[in-house]
Amino acid sequence: MDTKKYYSAKGKYLKEHKNYFSDQQLSKDTDFLINALNLKKKDKILDLACGHARHTIELRKRGFDIDGLDFSDYLLKKAEDIARRERLQINFFKQDVHSIDIKIKYDKIFLFFSEFGLFNGGKVLNNVSKILKTNGLFLLDCDNLFRLIQYLIKHPESPYKFNFNNMMLKDKQKNGQGVRYYTDPELENLFKNNGFKVISIYGDYAKNTLDINSKRMIVIGKKA
Ligand SMILES: C[S@@+](CC[C@H](N)C(=O)[O-])C[C@H]1O[C@@H](n2cnc3c(N)ncnc32)[C@H](O)[C@@H]1O
Repeated sequence: MDTKKYYSAKGKYLKEHKNYFSDQQLSKDTDFLINALNLKKKDKILDLACGHARHTIELRKRGFDIDGLDFSDYLLKKAEDIARRERLQINFFKQDVHSIDIKIKYDKIFLFFSEFGLFNGGKVLNNVSKILKTNGLFLLDCDNLFRLIQYLIKHPESPYKFNFNNMMLKDKQKNGQGVRYYTDPELENLFKNNGFKVISIYGDYAKNTLDINSKRMIVIGKKA
């Protein structure tokens, strides 16, 4: 997948997720973020890879002090248009998660509904650590590897194959980049190696325990 194109005006991202982006889902996500990160009105918060800023805008409406960061001109323009229309003051940074350059230190950062496996995970966590206050929290929400494996077993006709040697999901036909999937102990190690202590792991936005059927893999780390 050409990620930049996918999130551009020519890409299919917004169209493909149209049904998922409901007010009901947004409300659930936002309640979860407030609860899981114990968000306070005095916290400085960053929505990392915010997209068209569903959560940034909803949290700002609820009175939180939040910025957004993304590399997509197209999605950031949408976010800025909505914020202007709603008369909300929000700072949006157009940056790549691999080369974050922000002087602000945040209390809480989240990377929600993410494709963490497309990133250089260590580099991104290291960058997050640099802009997070000591004892600040970082929430990572990504796909659950175990659920993916079950899906591939049930759907051998799927165009994707998973390679257990390097934990990459790839298109059977193409020689593309592939997506790295992580087990939870692997993510815990990655967090630890980049200065975080993992304090919670969940399998969904209702804070249920992670298991092989969980819809999501959600890890919260505290900056040591
Ligand atoms: C699946 S969307 C999720 C957006 C948002 N968090 C949400 O829940 O609506 C992934 C987002 O990551 C952004 N993204 C992907 N790679 C990025 C990178 N290297 N640097 C910054 N943003 C990136 C995309 O532009 C897109 O907005």
